[in-house]
Amino acid sequence: MRVLVTGANGMLGIDLCAMLERANHQVIRTDVSVKEGMTVPAWEPMDITSAHSVAQTVLKFQPDAVIHGAAYTDVDGCTRDPDLAYRINALGTWNLASICGTHNITLAYVSTDFVFDGAKGTPYTEFDTTNPLNPYGASKLAGEGFVAKLCRKHFIARTSWLFGVNGKSFPGTMLNLAKSKPELNIVCDQVGSPTHTVDLARKLIELLDSPLYGTYHISNTGHCSWFDLAKYTLELAGVTSTEVKPMPAAQWPSPTVRPAYSVLRHYSLELQGRDDLPTWQEGLQEYIRLRG
Ligand SMILES: NC(=O)c1ccc[n+]([C@@H]2O[C@H](COP(=O)([O-])OP(=O)(O)OC[C@H]3O[C@@H](n4cnc5c(N)ncnc54)[C@H](OP(=O)(O)O)[C@@H]3O)[C@@H](O)[C@H]2O)c1
Repeated sequence: MRVLVTGANGMLGIDLCAMLERANHQVIRTDVSVKEGMTVPAWEPMDITSAHSVAQTVLKFQPDAVIHGAAYTDVDGCTRDPDLAYRINALGTWNLASICGTHNITLAYVSTDFVFDGAKGTPYTEFDTTNPLNPYGASKLAGEGFVAKLCRKHFIARTSWLFGVNGKSFPGTMLNLAKSKPELNIVCDQVGSPTHTVDLARKLIELLDSPLYGTYHISNTGHCSWFDLAKYTLELAGVTSTEVKPMPAAQWPSPTVRPAYSVLRHYSLELQGRDDLPTWQEGLQEYIRLRG
């Protein structure tokens, strides 16, 4: 299959493209930029906020499928500048959904647990009502709407608390901070399912072969708080010189309201008998091994 990937130079994109190639797909990597100092395989510049750039690139390469991972992922940045969040996450996805829908191209859109408000208190299924608390979640949900409306052959894959070796992630930040800090105060009253990019990528690639279009929750299984995740990360890396202390979210200096509970139940995969995702602890062990 010929697969065009947006956000190919991002944390998920790098792992996803490498895994697509290993699965013998032809990959077209697209992005707007590459992080300074990072070496990445050849890629095509495509700004998803430009309808012209999107149409030109998609029509030039004529992919069978597009996996759309590009986004404005800085959650606090989205809160400070909601227009930019909507331009990239909503308009950008609108542009892709429009061209994929018109040309009957399969579109897999990576979305987020932040479409939920966290009030449910038990794991969210794909059939639960969305109610984002912040502009990042709201703009990603707007993207979901365009994908569902404009593109018949679509997958909406919601994931959560993503980490991978090729980007800035919470476990990576903890390991870097631990090099200089004897103590870390970490939020203990927000609960979610941390997810390794490699596990998400494997499932996204599997979805491309499915005729069961629709919405899927894809995360590592189990759940924890940021505090639990920080503790286990340092434990796995053998860091003993830094103490992790619990702190309520109310004390964390952030302009963004976040859901207190955003655990995703993989109900679509469960119903199809295809929920074989590893636990978040297994995902983290693999991340630490790959990080070296
Ligand atoms: N990270 C998480 O915890 C998390 C959780 C749930 C869902 N997700 C979703 O998972 C997907 C992948 O996340 P990630 O953490 O791997 O993201 P990431 O590392 O920030 O990668 C996103 C990529 O999209 C690019 N991009 C930004 N604006 C663009 C534009 N206008 N046109 C084309 N590309 C553009 C970024 O380039 P620049 O770096 O130059 O901006 C970056 O390379 C996203 O859709 C995100 O919403 C992430």
